[in-house]
Amino acid sequence: MFAYKLLVDERGKRYLLKKDVKKFGTDLGIVDLENVEEGVELKSHKGHTFYLVEPTMFDILKRMKRTVTTLLPKDIGFIISIAGIREGETVVEAGTGSGALTMYLSNAVGKTGKVITYDIRPEFAKVARKNLLRVGAIRKGQKIIGLDEDFDDEDEIEIEDGLFNVIQKIGDVREKIDEKDVDVIVLDLPDPWNVVENAKKALNKKRGRIVTYLPYIEQVKKTVEKLKEEGFWDIHTYELIEREIEVSEKGVRPSTRMIGHTGYITVARVPPKPVDEKNEE
Ligand SMILES: C[S@@+](CC[C@H](N)C(=O)[O-])C[C@H]1O[C@@H](n2cnc3c(N)ncnc32)[C@H](O)[C@@H]1O
Repeated sequence: MFAYKLLVDERGKRYLLKKDVKKFGTDLGIVDLENVEEGVELKSHKGHTFYLVEPTMFDILKRMKRTVTTLLPKDIGFIISIAGIREGETVVEAGTGSGALTMYLSNAVGKTGKVITYDIRPEFAKVARKNLLRVGAIRKGQKIIGLDEDFDDEDEIEIEDGLFNVIQKIGDVREKIDEKDVDVIVLDLPDPWNVVENAKKALNKKRGRIVTYLPYIEQVKKTVEKLKEEGFWDIHTYELIEREIEVSEKGVRPSTRMIGHTGYITVARVPPKPVDEKNEE
C-alpha cells in the first residue's frame, strides 16, 4: 500500500497525510491519530466526525504536484482498455509530464511488465519522479537515465510493496526510441506524427499498438495521415465525455458543471512484416 493515509472530514474535505502523522489540526478541530489504524471513524476535539482510510491511487493523483496538464481518469482508463494494456507488457510512454498516466500504466503492466517513460524536460521528469516514488512505481534513489543527478535525499520514502517497474529517461522520442519489441507506445505530446517512424521500428510486429492523445482535431488528422502512410492499421479515434450524476432527495440529474473537452484518443496497430521478411528470420 501507499506511504500515506487519507483523512476525510464530515464535509468530504480530504487530507492526504504521511503514515507517521500522529496529530492533525483542521478548522473542525484536532484529530488524534496516535496508534490509530485506517478503517475507523474518529472525532476531533471539537466533536466533528472524520474517516481515516487508505487512499486510492486516484486520491494521490488528485493531490500530486503538476508541471503540465495531466490526463484525467476517463482518458487514462480508456487508453488502457482500448489499447488492451495488460500484465507483463512493455510500454513506452512520452512525455512523462507529471507522471499521472505513468502511474496507471505501471499498475496495468504489473510486476512482470515495465514502463519506460521519456521526457525532454529534466525539470518535469524530476517532479514526475517524486509522484512516481509516492505510488511505488520507482525505487528510492532511482536515477533518471540521461540525467547526471543523484537522488539520495533521506526524506525519500520507498513503499514496501511497490511495483518498481518504471524506468524514467530524458530523451526526445522524435530522435530515437531505444527499446525494441515494445508492446504499446503511448504518446501524449504535441507532434506524434514526428514519432511514428521510430514507433514503427520499436513496436513488436505481432502485437504492437500505438496510442496518441491530442487536444486539437488538426493534430489528429495529421497523426492519422502519417499512421496510414507508414502502414499502421485498425486506426480509430475517440473522444470521451464525462458527466457526474447528482443524486439528492429532490431528484436525480446531471451536475451543472461537467468536464468539457480534454483530448482525442487515437489507437492503431503496427504493420506486420511482409511474409518473405518473416521467413528469413
Ligand atoms: C501534456 S504533457 C504529458 C502529461 C502526462 N501524460 C501526464 O498525465 O502527466 C507532455 C509532456 O511531453 C513532453 N514532451 C514533448 N515533446 C516530447 C518529445 N518529443 N519527447 C519526449 N517528451 C516530450 C513535455 O516535456 C511534457 O512533459
